[in-house]
Amino acid sequence: MLAGGSFLVTDPQLARTVLKSTTEPLRAESAPFGEIPGWVPGSASGRPATIAMATAIESALRESSPDRMADLLTEDLTVPWPVGAGELCLRLVVPHVLPNTRERLLSRYSRSLAALVGLAHDGSRVGRWKSRLAHSRTLSGLYGELERTDPGNELVDALRTVLDSKDEVTLAMDGMIGAACRATSVALSWALLLRAGWTPQTPAGAVLQVPPVPSGDPVREALRLWPPAWLLHRDVRQPIAIGDRKAEPGDQVYICTYLMHRRPQVWEDPEAYRPERWIDPPERYRDAYLPFGVGPAACVGARFVLDLSSRFQALRELVGAELRMIGTAPVMGPLCDPPRFVVSLG
Ligand code: HEM
Repeated sequence: MLAGGSFLVTDPQLARTVLKSTTEPLRAESAPFGEIPGWVPGSASGRPATIAMATAIESALRESSPDRMADLLTEDLTVPWPVGAGELCLRLVVPHVLPNTRERLLSRYSRSLAALVGLAHDGSRVGRWKSRLAHSRTLSGLYGELERTDPGNELVDALRTVLDSKDEVTLAMDGMIGAACRATSVALSWALLLRAGWTPQTPAGAVLQVPPVPSGDPVREALRLWPPAWLLHRDVRQPIAIGDRKAEPGDQVYICTYLMHRRPQVWEDPEAYRPERWIDPPERYRDAYLPFGVGPAACVGARFVLDLSSRFQALRELVGAELRMIGTAPVMGPLCDPPRFVVSLG
């Protein structure tokens, strides 16, 4: 237990129990849809809409060929990652969710993403303003696109069956696009960095080379060592036991997947990047592995992320690519952001 009525959970079984108790007596408020009034992550009423959106995003992936991903990758490598990876995700996802999207919306999203990542690395007040401004321009752009494409867009129609107004539909779609592209760009960046041999000791300016895809599961291993959603949060609504302690309404429970994924009691050589550990892994690895959460508020995009990342890792264009490090340290903000780097293909 931490000071002031806060609990930090790193034990896998306890974490699963806590997460499965969402939404009562423990409520999640920090997931993508927190901005929509009354929209509680994990709630039965919101779930159909999140699933509809996730399915639409998944079909974007199924319909896109590896060549499309390679084309997007080679299009513009001047933007440092993870923003560069975010642009790749945006260009893959948004046109499928909103056909005929205009370039203007995509560039607003890119700017919003760049401002968010900038804010994670430099939490200044000006950075916060920039990020808010960029986000509100994106929201108004998205609202405009919905005006143009609605009615007739199946996804928008499905959202309107559970949401009251176009404002709410816009917020929901924005939350989903943000969740999909921001978190996935972080995951792609980590997977590439670790495959190229990055360690916390790698200095700025270092140039790393991307080797052929290692055996085992490099994506799963990257999500273990650096889980983008590294700290989940629950708000206690009713008295509940957290292990041998009692939590009261108003207390906060934090589940730290970063620490859980590095527990020496569970993981052999926990700090090491070893994708081959996922070839026939022991049961305890699966139990202690929660990059996408579990229970009613668990991520609806997990399959999308795993498929997309594996496809991405398999791109032959990446073998021999060079990563030039700009930053050195990860940033543990709302997501666990990697240090920034520039990609150049061999
Ligand atoms: C690497 C990428 C991603 C990671 C690590 C991630 C992780 C997570 C985690 C840990 C949660 C549970 C939060 C909690 O229990 O408090 C969550 C929820 C959620 N994720 Fe993801 N996510 C990723 C990508 C995506 C994508 C691609 C989508 C959309 C297709 C998505 C949509 C959602 C939604 C809608 C929820 C809330 C579900 C609900 O409220 O019922 N996520 N995500």
